[in-house]
Amino acid sequence: MVSRKWLANDMMYQIAVVGTGYVGLVAAVCFAEIGHHVTCLDVDGDKINLCKSGIAPFFEPGLQELLARGLEQGRLFFTTDVNQAYRDAAAIFIGVGTPEQPDGSADLSSIAKVARQIAENVKQDCLVIVKSTVPVGTNDKVEQFVRDFKKNGIRIEVASNPEFLAQGSAVHDTLQAARIVIGTSSRWAEDLLTDIYKPFGLPIVSVSRRSAEMIKYAANSFLALKISYMNDIANLCELVDADILDVAKGMSYDDRIGAKHLNAGIGYGGSCFPKDTKALEFLAKQHGYNLRTVKAAIDVNRDQKTILIRKASSRLITFSGLQIAALGLTFKPGTDDFRESAAIDNISFLLHEGAEVFAYDPVGTPNFQKLFPQGRHEAGNITYVTQPRDALKNAHACFIFTEWQQIKEITPQDYRQLMHTPLVFDGRNILSIKEMAKAQVEYYSIGRQRKG
Ligand code: UGA
Repeated sequence: MVSRKWLANDMMYQIAVVGTGYVGLVAAVCFAEIGHHVTCLDVDGDKINLCKSGIAPFFEPGLQELLARGLEQGRLFFTTDVNQAYRDAAAIFIGVGTPEQPDGSADLSSIAKVARQIAENVKQDCLVIVKSTVPVGTNDKVEQFVRDFKKNGIRIEVASNPEFLAQGSAVHDTLQAARIVIGTSSRWAEDLLTDIYKPFGLPIVSVSRRSAEMIKYAANSFLALKISYMNDIANLCELVDADILDVAKGMSYDDRIGAKHLNAGIGYGGSCFPKDTKALEFLAKQHGYNLRTVKAAIDVNRDQKTILIRKASSRLITFSGLQIAALGLTFKPGTDDFRESAAIDNISFLLHEGAEVFAYDPVGTPNFQKLFPQGRHEAGNITYVTQPRDALKNAHACFIFTEWQQIKEITPQDYRQLMHTPLVFDGRNILSIKEMAKAQVEYYSIGRQRKG
């Protein structure tokens, strides 16, 4: 067991969290919320200063409040100073990024940098916990790396503790996680992590480090597969005049299938499914195995992202000079993150083809503008609007990429009255076919029965 000298009070620990992204910062504020004493470390001084002043560096429901409370109650600290972060830490959680490399593999350079920094700076026994999503076998390498660089005789062990939060509900998903996965074969590490998580009162699954690493990839790839499967079936539904919404509903009552992640649409995006499916496929390939199911999920998703453009191309002779409304820029509602969002591929194509794009998103615009600044791009032009209906005014066609509530609230009559030509391509199936027909809006969606 860990020595009592680290305990702030009964069961409460000194914790360091490296990386203040979605994984690190959300874990940190939640650890502080349940009473641990948490210091966050990041190389980005601006981000650390924002957090110190109580401002969350990204949008996430509930994060701001927890951050403020942690600071106010003196349980949450932010620093760029390695020594300050690691001093007295009984547990160091690593939550740095593992981005995709051009060949599909995960870039582990940040993990390696942090592991070496820990080995060279920590002065007391501690447990290093890898929360970042890393390929199977990485924790073994991190432990070896720490041993290679360690200067003194202190005990540093490495455990895996993958994160399962989804963006847009990250705080909720952490405080009320379906399960905590702990990957270690060390009794000491398992006891310490169990103690740290005990106040959350959540089910704990204790497995080997490699199994824990695999659980994360297998879970994400399974969900990605579920979505790609529904998209595949949706495309078939269109050909045989069945309706994917009814099909999904009928399937969902079987609790072996479940009701979640069954929504067909314009494909999955975000910082996780696209990256993790490719990393798992890469891992399989490295071991000489052809992971056909995951490969199929990736292939279907790639094609699904441009399905609306294909539908629109068979309806319109050109996009050049047309005014196009683009509704929703983030990869899903509830986040300002647009990584791998369908809007990127589609808007990029529309601009290339010479369209005049009017784009709306309730929170994602500032981030999206970094990629597509307002103004001319190739043959086209992009203008950002702050009200969804402003994007529709005089538009020749509208594309719906994200199912934000503000976009769902636009009525069929709004499309009819505001647009030059009421022609809507909906990548999220948020509108009623019947109502759109009644309002005389020409409406295309994904996998639904033509008559509605
Ligand atoms: C995903 C997982 O859901 C989390 O459990 C996991 O921890 C996280 O990745 C991660 O590895 O960090 P996230 O990417 O935030 O979380 O979002 P999801 O809600 O899973 O959505 C991912 C994408 O799939 C979005 O583009 C969404 O629009 C799409 N999606 C989701 C569908 O097309 N259909 C659905 O039924 C559900």
